[in-house]
Amino acid sequence: MSKTILVTGGAGFIGANFVLEWLRLGLGKVVNLDKLTYAGNLENLLAVQHNPQHVFVHGDIGDQTLVTKLLHEHQPTAIINFAAESHVDRSIHGPEDFIQTNVLGSFHLLESVRAYWNQLSQADRQVWRFLHVSTDEVYGSLTADAPAFTENHAYAPNSPYSASKAASDHLVRAYHHTYGLPTLTTNCSNNYGPHHFPEKLIPLVIHNALTGKALPIYGTGLQIRDWLYVTDHCSAIRRVLEVGQVGEVYNVGGWNEMANINVVKTLCQILDSKKPRADGQSYAEQISFVEDRLGHDQRYAIDASKIHQQLGWKPAESFESGIEKTVTWYLENQAWVNNVTSGEYRHWVAKHYAERGEELA
Ligand code: NAD
Ligand code: DAU
Repeated sequence: MSKTILVTGGAGFIGANFVLEWLRLGLGKVVNLDKLTYAGNLENLLAVQHNPQHVFVHGDIGDQTLVTKLLHEHQPTAIINFAAESHVDRSIHGPEDFIQTNVLGSFHLLESVRAYWNQLSQADRQVWRFLHVSTDEVYGSLTADAPAFTENHAYAPNSPYSASKAASDHLVRAYHHTYGLPTLTTNCSNNYGPHHFPEKLIPLVIHNALTGKALPIYGTGLQIRDWLYVTDHCSAIRRVLEVGQVGEVYNVGGWNEMANINVVKTLCQILDSKKPRADGQSYAEQISFVEDRLGHDQRYAIDASKIHQQLGWKPAESFESGIEKTVTWYLENQAWVNNVTSGEYRHWVAKHYAERGEELA
Protein backbone atom coordinates (compact mmCIF):
# COMPACT_ATOMS: atom_id res chain seq x y z
CA MET A 1 0.00 0.00 0.00
CA SER A 2 1.24 3.55 -0.77
CA LYS A 3 2.43 6.00 1.86
CA THR A 4 -0.03 8.64 0.73
CA ILE A 5 -2.17 10.51 3.29
CA LEU A 6 -5.35 12.50 2.73
CA VAL A 7 -5.44 15.72 4.73
CA THR A 8 -8.68 17.71 4.98
CA GLY A 9 -8.60 21.44 5.74
CA GLY A 10 -4.94 21.66 4.76
CA ALA A 11 -5.19 25.27 3.54
CA GLY A 12 -6.14 26.51 7.02
CA PHE A 13 -3.88 27.44 9.92
CA ILE A 14 -2.98 24.10 11.51
CA GLY A 15 -3.62 21.97 8.41
CA ALA A 16 -1.22 24.06 6.29
CA ASN A 17 1.48 23.91 8.98
CA PHE A 18 0.96 20.14 9.12
CA VAL A 19 1.22 19.73 5.33
CA LEU A 20 4.34 21.94 5.12
CA GLU A 21 6.04 19.94 7.90
CA TRP A 22 5.01 16.56 6.46
CA LEU A 23 6.52 17.44 3.08
CA ARG A 24 9.59 19.09 4.59
CA LEU A 25 10.26 15.88 6.52
CA GLY A 26 9.80 13.82 3.33
CA LEU A 27 7.13 11.59 4.89
CA GLY A 28 5.23 10.89 1.66
CA LYS A 29 2.55 12.26 -0.63
CA VAL A 30 -0.26 14.49 0.65
CA VAL A 31 -3.64 14.83 -1.01
CA ASN A 32 -5.03 18.04 0.45
CA LEU A 33 -8.82 18.47 0.30
CA ASP A 34 -10.02 21.93 1.27
CA LYS A 35 -13.20 23.87 0.57
CA LEU A 36 -11.33 27.21 0.73
CA THR A 37 -13.78 28.95 3.02
CA TYR A 38 -12.76 32.41 4.27
CA ALA A 39 -10.21 30.60 6.50
CA GLY A 40 -8.64 28.54 3.73
CA ASN A 41 -5.76 30.30 2.02
CA LEU A 42 -3.68 28.82 -0.78
CA GLU A 43 -0.97 31.36 0.02
CA ASN A 44 -0.26 29.22 3.11
CA LEU A 45 0.87 26.49 0.70
CA LEU A 46 2.98 28.59 -1.69
CA ALA A 47 6.17 26.81 -0.60
CA VAL A 48 4.82 23.47 -1.87
CA GLN A 49 2.83 24.58 -4.90
CA HIS A 50 5.25 22.90 -7.33
CA ASN A 51 6.02 19.91 -5.13
CA PRO A 52 4.81 16.75 -6.93
CA GLN A 53 4.22 15.16 -3.51
CA HIS A 54 1.42 17.69 -2.84
CA VAL A 55 -1.93 17.38 -4.62
CA PHE A 56 -4.40 20.13 -3.78
CA VAL A 57 -8.10 19.41 -4.35
CA HIS A 58 -10.73 22.11 -3.95
CA GLY A 59 -13.78 20.47 -2.41
CA ASP A 60 -15.99 19.70 0.56
CA ILE A 61 -15.52 16.86 3.06
CA GLY A 62 -19.28 16.38 2.83
CA ASP A 63 -19.12 15.56 -0.90
CA GLN A 64 -19.15 11.75 -0.77
CA THR A 65 -18.78 11.35 -4.53
CA LEU A 66 -15.61 13.44 -4.53
CA VAL A 67 -14.12 11.88 -1.39
CA THR A 68 -14.85 8.35 -2.66
CA LYS A 69 -13.17 9.19 -5.96
CA LEU A 70 -10.10 10.59 -4.16
CA LEU A 71 -9.82 7.53 -1.93
CA HIS A 72 -9.88 5.12 -4.89
CA GLU A 73 -7.61 7.27 -7.03
CA HIS A 74 -4.88 7.97 -4.46
CA GLN A 75 -5.32 5.02 -2.05
CA PRO A 76 -4.15 6.87 1.08
CA THR A 77 -3.32 4.87 4.20
CA ALA A 78 -4.72 7.54 6.51
CA ILE A 79 -6.96 10.59 6.70
CA ILE A 80 -6.16 13.46 9.02
CA ASN A 81 -9.35 15.47 9.42
CA PHE A 82 -8.58 19.12 10.17
CA ALA A 83 -11.46 20.57 8.12
CA ALA A 84 -13.86 22.54 10.28
CA GLU A 85 -15.38 25.89 11.00
CA SER A 86 -13.10 26.88 13.87
CA HIS A 87 -13.91 30.34 15.25
CA VAL A 88 -16.04 30.49 18.41
CA ASP A 89 -17.23 34.08 17.79
CA ARG A 90 -18.43 33.19 14.30
CA SER A 91 -20.32 30.21 15.73
CA ILE A 92 -22.13 32.59 18.09
CA HIS A 93 -23.12 34.91 15.24
CA GLY A 94 -24.11 32.08 12.86
CA PRO A 95 -24.01 28.45 14.00
CA GLU A 96 -25.36 26.87 10.81
CA ASP A 97 -22.06 26.54 8.92
CA PHE A 98 -20.64 24.81 12.01
CA ILE A 99 -23.38 22.19 11.98
CA GLN A 100 -23.02 21.80 8.23
CA THR A 101 -19.27 21.15 8.19
CA ASN A 102 -18.34 19.98 11.67
CA VAL A 103 -21.32 17.66 12.16
CA LEU A 104 -22.76 16.74 8.75
CA GLY A 105 -19.45 17.10 6.89
CA SER A 106 -17.70 14.83 9.39
CA PHE A 107 -20.57 12.33 9.13
CA HIS A 108 -20.37 12.20 5.32
CA LEU A 109 -16.58 11.92 5.48
CA LEU A 110 -16.89 8.97 7.88
CA GLU A 111 -19.44 7.33 5.59
CA SER A 112 -17.14 7.67 2.56
CA VAL A 113 -14.22 6.27 4.53
CA ARG A 114 -16.25 3.41 5.99
CA ALA A 115 -17.34 2.22 2.54
CA TYR A 116 -13.78 2.48 1.18
CA TRP A 117 -12.17 0.84 4.21
CA ASN A 118 -14.64 -2.07 4.14
CA GLN A 119 -13.54 -3.18 0.71
CA LEU A 120 -9.80 -3.17 1.50
CA SER A 121 -7.94 -6.40 2.20
CA GLN A 122 -7.72 -7.51 5.84
CA ALA A 123 -4.04 -6.49 5.96
CA ASP A 124 -4.70 -3.02 4.51
CA ARG A 125 -7.67 -2.46 6.83
CA GLN A 126 -5.45 -3.09 9.84
CA VAL A 127 -2.93 -0.39 9.03
CA TRP A 128 -5.50 2.19 7.88
CA ARG A 129 -6.16 5.19 10.20
CA PHE A 130 -8.78 7.93 10.50
CA LEU A 131 -7.28 10.64 12.71
CA HIS A 132 -9.80 13.25 13.85
CA VAL A 133 -8.36 16.57 15.03
CA SER A 134 -10.46 18.02 17.83
CA THR A 135 -10.31 20.56 20.60
CA ASP A 136 -10.15 20.89 24.39
CA GLU A 137 -13.29 23.07 24.20
CA VAL A 138 -15.49 19.95 24.08
CA TYR A 139 -14.79 19.48 27.81
CA GLY A 140 -16.33 22.84 28.73
CA SER A 141 -14.96 25.32 31.24
CA LEU A 142 -12.82 24.76 34.36
CA THR A 143 -12.90 26.64 37.65
CA ALA A 144 -9.63 28.24 38.79
CA ASP A 145 -8.39 25.35 40.94
CA ALA A 146 -9.92 22.37 39.08
CA PRO A 147 -7.49 19.77 37.70
CA ALA A 148 -6.71 20.00 33.97
CA PHE A 149 -8.81 18.05 31.43
CA THR A 150 -7.89 14.37 31.11
CA GLU A 151 -9.28 12.13 28.35
CA ASN A 152 -11.88 10.90 30.87
CA HIS A 153 -13.34 14.33 31.57
CA ALA A 154 -17.06 14.45 30.75
CA TYR A 155 -18.01 16.35 27.61
CA ALA A 156 -19.73 19.68 28.39
CA PRO A 157 -19.44 21.92 25.31
CA ASN A 158 -20.69 25.47 25.79
CA SER A 159 -20.57 27.18 22.38
CA PRO A 160 -22.13 26.16 19.07
CA TYR A 161 -18.54 25.60 17.87
CA SER A 162 -17.59 23.26 20.70
CA ALA A 163 -20.97 21.48 20.55
CA SER A 164 -20.44 20.80 16.85
CA LYS A 165 -16.91 19.50 17.49
CA ALA A 166 -18.22 17.33 20.35
CA ALA A 167 -20.81 15.86 17.97
CA SER A 168 -18.09 14.97 15.47
CA ASP A 169 -15.96 13.40 18.23
CA HIS A 170 -18.93 11.24 19.24
CA LEU A 171 -19.50 10.15 15.63
CA VAL A 172 -15.83 9.17 15.31
CA ARG A 173 -16.06 7.19 18.54
CA ALA A 174 -19.25 5.47 17.37
CA TYR A 175 -17.74 4.53 13.98
CA HIS A 176 -14.91 2.80 15.80
CA HIS A 177 -17.15 1.08 18.33
CA THR A 178 -19.87 0.05 15.87
CA TYR A 179 -18.05 -0.57 12.60
CA GLY A 180 -14.50 -1.15 13.81
CA LEU A 181 -13.16 1.82 11.83
CA PRO A 182 -9.55 2.35 13.02
CA THR A 183 -9.96 5.86 14.43
CA LEU A 184 -7.77 8.10 16.58
CA THR A 185 -8.89 11.39 18.14
CA THR A 186 -6.75 14.24 19.43
CA ASN A 187 -8.14 17.03 21.64
CA CYS A 188 -5.76 19.95 21.62
CA SER A 189 -5.54 23.27 23.42
CA ASN A 190 -5.15 26.73 21.81
CA ASN A 191 -2.58 26.83 19.01
CA TYR A 192 -0.58 29.83 17.85
CA GLY A 193 2.11 30.40 15.24
CA PRO A 194 2.62 31.27 11.54
CA HIS A 195 -0.39 31.45 9.17
CA HIS A 196 -2.86 31.95 12.04
CA PHE A 197 -5.88 33.79 10.68
CA PRO A 198 -6.06 37.30 12.21
CA GLU A 199 -9.53 36.88 13.68
CA LYS A 200 -8.06 34.85 16.58
CA LEU A 201 -6.60 36.58 19.63
CA ILE A 202 -2.84 36.41 19.02
CA PRO A 203 -2.66 37.31 15.30
CA LEU A 204 -5.46 39.88 15.72
CA VAL A 205 -3.56 41.65 18.48
CA ILE A 206 -0.30 41.67 16.49
CA HIS A 207 -2.08 43.05 13.43
CA ASN A 208 -4.08 45.66 15.33
CA ALA A 209 -1.04 46.80 17.28
CA LEU A 210 0.98 47.38 14.11
CA THR A 211 -1.88 49.20 12.39
CA GLY A 212 -2.62 51.51 15.33
CA LYS A 213 -5.96 49.95 16.24
CA ALA A 214 -7.44 49.02 19.61
CA LEU A 215 -6.41 45.68 21.14
CA PRO A 216 -9.81 44.29 22.20
CA ILE A 217 -9.93 42.30 25.45
CA TYR A 218 -13.25 40.58 26.08
CA GLY A 219 -14.66 41.17 29.57
CA THR A 220 -12.04 41.13 32.32
CA GLY A 221 -9.29 39.52 30.25
CA LEU A 222 -8.78 37.04 33.09
CA GLN A 223 -9.99 34.02 31.09
CA ILE A 224 -7.31 31.36 30.81
CA ARG A 225 -6.18 29.39 27.76
CA ASP A 226 -3.43 26.75 27.48
CA TRP A 227 -1.21 27.75 24.54
CA LEU A 228 0.73 25.38 22.26
CA TYR A 229 2.97 26.32 19.33
CA VAL A 230 1.42 24.96 16.15
CA THR A 231 4.33 22.76 15.03
CA ASP A 232 4.17 21.02 18.42
CA HIS A 233 0.55 20.16 17.69
CA CYS A 234 1.69 18.83 14.29
CA SER A 235 4.37 16.64 15.88
CA ALA A 236 1.79 15.28 18.34
CA ILE A 237 -0.53 14.34 15.47
CA ARG A 238 2.32 12.58 13.63
CA ARG A 239 3.17 10.67 16.81
CA VAL A 240 -0.44 9.59 17.39
CA LEU A 241 -0.73 8.54 13.75
CA GLU A 242 2.43 6.50 14.03
CA VAL A 243 2.00 4.72 17.37
CA GLY A 244 -1.40 5.71 18.84
CA GLN A 245 -3.71 2.89 19.91
CA VAL A 246 -6.69 2.51 17.59
CA GLY A 247 -9.93 3.81 19.15
CA GLU A 248 -8.05 5.95 21.69
CA VAL A 249 -8.27 9.66 22.46
CA TYR A 250 -5.16 11.75 23.21
CA ASN A 251 -5.20 15.19 24.83
CA VAL A 252 -2.51 17.54 23.50
CA GLY A 253 -1.38 20.66 25.33
CA GLY A 254 1.55 22.86 26.15
CA TRP A 255 1.36 22.92 29.97
CA ASN A 256 1.12 26.64 29.48
CA GLU A 257 -1.91 28.33 31.00
CA MET A 258 -2.09 32.08 30.63
CA ALA A 259 -4.73 34.76 31.22
CA ASN A 260 -5.67 36.59 28.01
CA ILE A 261 -4.56 39.95 29.37
CA ASN A 262 -1.09 38.54 30.07
CA VAL A 263 -0.84 37.10 26.56
CA VAL A 264 -1.69 40.52 25.13
CA LYS A 265 0.77 42.32 27.43
CA THR A 266 3.50 39.86 26.41
CA LEU A 267 2.80 40.56 22.74
CA CYS A 268 3.00 44.30 23.43
CA GLN A 269 6.37 43.92 25.15
CA ILE A 270 7.83 41.89 22.28
CA LEU A 271 6.54 44.38 19.72
CA ASP A 272 7.85 47.29 21.82
CA SER A 273 11.34 45.84 21.51
CA LYS A 274 11.17 44.53 17.91
CA LYS A 275 9.21 47.32 16.29
CA PRO A 276 8.80 50.29 18.66
CA ARG A 277 5.93 52.70 18.08
CA ALA A 278 6.95 55.93 16.37
CA ASP A 279 5.76 58.00 19.36
CA GLY A 280 7.84 55.97 21.83
CA GLN A 281 4.75 54.80 23.74
CA SER A 282 4.07 51.11 24.47
CA TYR A 283 1.61 49.15 22.34
CA ALA A 284 -0.08 48.39 25.68
CA GLU A 285 -1.58 51.89 25.39
CA GLN A 286 -3.84 50.42 22.69
CA ILE A 287 -5.42 47.82 25.01
CA SER A 288 -9.19 48.28 25.19
CA PHE A 289 -11.64 46.28 27.32
CA VAL A 290 -14.78 45.47 25.30
CA GLU A 291 -18.03 43.58 25.87
CA ASP A 292 -17.51 39.94 26.80
CA ARG A 293 -18.07 36.96 24.48
CA LEU A 294 -21.49 35.35 25.06
CA GLY A 295 -21.10 32.22 27.21
CA HIS A 296 -17.34 32.85 27.44
CA ASP A 297 -15.54 29.81 28.91
CA GLN A 298 -13.41 30.86 31.88
CA ARG A 299 -10.56 28.37 31.74
CA TYR A 300 -9.18 25.54 29.62
CA ALA A 301 -6.23 23.41 30.71
CA ILE A 302 -4.98 20.17 29.20
CA ASP A 303 -3.45 17.29 31.10
CA ALA A 304 -1.13 15.89 28.42
CA SER A 305 0.26 13.06 30.60
CA LYS A 306 -1.23 10.26 28.48
CA ILE A 307 0.39 11.25 25.19
CA HIS A 308 3.62 12.01 27.03
CA GLN A 309 3.79 8.75 29.00
CA GLN A 310 2.32 6.35 26.45
CA LEU A 311 3.63 7.82 23.18
CA GLY A 312 6.67 9.77 24.37
CA TRP A 313 5.49 13.12 22.95
CA LYS A 314 6.31 16.48 24.47
CA PRO A 315 6.35 20.01 23.03
CA ALA A 316 9.64 21.36 21.67
CA GLU A 317 8.79 25.04 22.16
CA SER A 318 8.24 26.99 25.36
CA PHE A 319 5.71 29.85 25.25
CA GLU A 320 8.65 32.30 25.30
CA SER A 321 10.36 30.75 22.27
CA GLY A 322 7.11 30.12 20.38
CA ILE A 323 5.64 33.58 20.84
CA GLU A 324 8.94 35.20 19.83
CA LYS A 325 8.99 33.15 16.61
CA THR A 326 5.35 34.00 15.99
CA VAL A 327 5.81 37.77 16.30
CA THR A 328 8.90 37.57 14.07
CA TRP A 329 6.92 35.62 11.44
CA TYR A 330 4.16 38.24 11.40
CA LEU A 331 6.67 41.10 11.15
CA GLU A 332 8.37 39.37 8.22
CA ASN A 333 5.13 38.38 6.49
CA GLN A 334 3.13 41.58 6.43
CA ALA A 335 2.19 40.91 2.78
CA TRP A 336 0.42 37.71 3.88
CA VAL A 337 -1.45 39.61 6.59
CA ASN A 338 -2.40 42.41 4.20
CA ASN A 339 -3.77 39.96 1.64
CA VAL A 340 -5.86 38.26 4.28
CA THR A 341 -7.16 41.43 5.85
CA SER A 342 -8.14 43.05 2.57
CA GLY A 343 -10.66 40.27 1.86
CA GLU A 344 -13.96 39.21 3.36
CA TYR A 345 -12.30 39.31 6.77
CA ARG A 346 -12.50 43.13 6.75
CA HIS A 347 -16.30 43.05 6.66
CA TRP A 348 -16.44 40.45 9.41
CA VAL A 349 -14.21 42.47 11.73
CA ALA A 350 -16.23 45.64 11.14
CA LYS A 351 -19.55 43.92 11.93
CA HIS A 352 -18.34 41.98 14.94
CA TYR A 353 -16.52 44.75 16.78
CA ALA A 354 -19.09 47.45 15.91
CA GLU A 355 -21.41 45.47 18.18
CA ARG A 356 -18.84 45.90 20.98
CA GLY A 357 -18.68 49.66 20.49
CA GLU A 358 -15.31 49.52 18.77
CA GLU A 359 -14.27 50.61 15.31
CA LEU A 360 -11.44 48.35 14.23
CA ALA A 361 -11.77 48.01 10.49
P1 NAD B 1 -8.96 27.12 10.26
O1 NAD B 1 -10.30 27.74 10.39
O2 NAD B 1 -7.75 27.97 10.16
O3 NAD B 1 -8.92 26.17 8.97
C1 NAD B 1 -9.99 25.31 8.65
C2 NAD B 1 -9.77 24.82 7.21
O4 NAD B 1 -10.83 23.91 6.89
C3 NAD B 1 -9.83 25.95 6.17
O5 NAD B 1 -8.78 25.80 5.25
C4 NAD B 1 -11.17 25.75 5.50
O6 NAD B 1 -11.20 26.19 4.15
C5 NAD B 1 -11.34 24.24 5.61
N1 NAD B 1 -12.74 23.81 5.55
C6 NAD B 1 -13.80 24.32 6.23
N2 NAD B 1 -14.93 23.66 5.91
C7 NAD B 1 -14.56 22.69 5.03
C8 NAD B 1 -15.29 21.67 4.37
N3 NAD B 1 -16.61 21.52 4.52
N4 NAD B 1 -14.61 20.83 3.54
C9 NAD B 1 -13.27 20.99 3.34
N5 NAD B 1 -12.54 21.95 3.95
C10 NAD B 1 -13.19 22.78 4.79
O7 NAD B 1 -8.86 26.09 11.47
P2 NAD B 1 -7.58 25.66 12.33
O8 NAD B 1 -7.40 26.61 13.43
O9 NAD B 1 -6.48 25.34 11.42
O10 NAD B 1 -8.15 24.31 12.99
C11 NAD B 1 -8.02 23.06 12.30
C12 NAD B 1 -8.68 21.99 13.14
O11 NAD B 1 -8.05 21.91 14.41
C13 NAD B 1 -10.17 22.22 13.40
O12 NAD B 1 -10.82 20.98 13.32
C14 NAD B 1 -10.20 22.77 14.81
O13 NAD B 1 -11.41 22.45 15.45
C15 NAD B 1 -9.03 22.05 15.44
N6 NAD B 1 -8.36 22.74 16.56
C16 NAD B 1 -7.95 24.04 16.41
C17 NAD B 1 -7.26 24.65 17.46
C18 NAD B 1 -6.75 26.08 17.34
O14 NAD B 1 -6.28 26.62 18.34
N7 NAD B 1 -6.81 26.72 16.19
C19 NAD B 1 -7.01 23.95 18.63
C20 NAD B 1 -7.46 22.63 18.75
C21 NAD B 1 -8.12 22.03 17.69
O1 DAU C 1 -8.99 25.71 22.82
C1 DAU C 1 -8.86 25.37 21.48
C2 DAU C 1 -9.62 26.37 20.64
O2 DAU C 1 -8.85 27.57 20.63
C3 DAU C 1 -9.88 25.89 19.21
O3 DAU C 1 -10.71 24.76 19.25
C4 DAU C 1 -10.54 26.99 18.37
O4 DAU C 1 -10.68 26.56 17.03
C5 DAU C 1 -9.65 28.21 18.43
O5 DAU C 1 -10.25 29.27 17.71
C6 DAU C 1 -9.38 28.64 19.87
O6 DAU C 1 -10.61 29.10 20.50
P1 DAU C 1 -10.62 30.38 21.49
O7 DAU C 1 -11.99 30.91 21.53
O8 DAU C 1 -9.97 30.04 22.78
O9 DAU C 1 -9.61 31.35 20.66
P2 DAU C 1 -9.66 32.91 20.34
O10 DAU C 1 -8.34 33.27 19.76
O11 DAU C 1 -10.89 33.28 19.58
O12 DAU C 1 -9.77 33.55 21.78
C7 DAU C 1 -8.79 33.30 22.78
C8 DAU C 1 -9.21 34.00 24.04
O13 DAU C 1 -9.11 35.42 23.82
C9 DAU C 1 -10.66 33.75 24.41
O14 DAU C 1 -10.78 33.70 25.83
C10 DAU C 1 -11.41 34.96 23.88
C11 DAU C 1 -10.38 36.06 23.99
N1 DAU C 1 -10.45 37.12 22.96
C12 DAU C 1 -10.51 36.74 21.64
C13 DAU C 1 -10.55 37.70 20.64
C14 DAU C 1 -10.64 37.29 19.18
C15 DAU C 1 -10.40 38.45 23.32
O15 DAU C 1 -10.32 38.80 24.51
N2 DAU C 1 -10.45 39.40 22.33
C16 DAU C 1 -10.55 39.08 21.01
O16 DAU C 1 -10.62 40.00 20.15
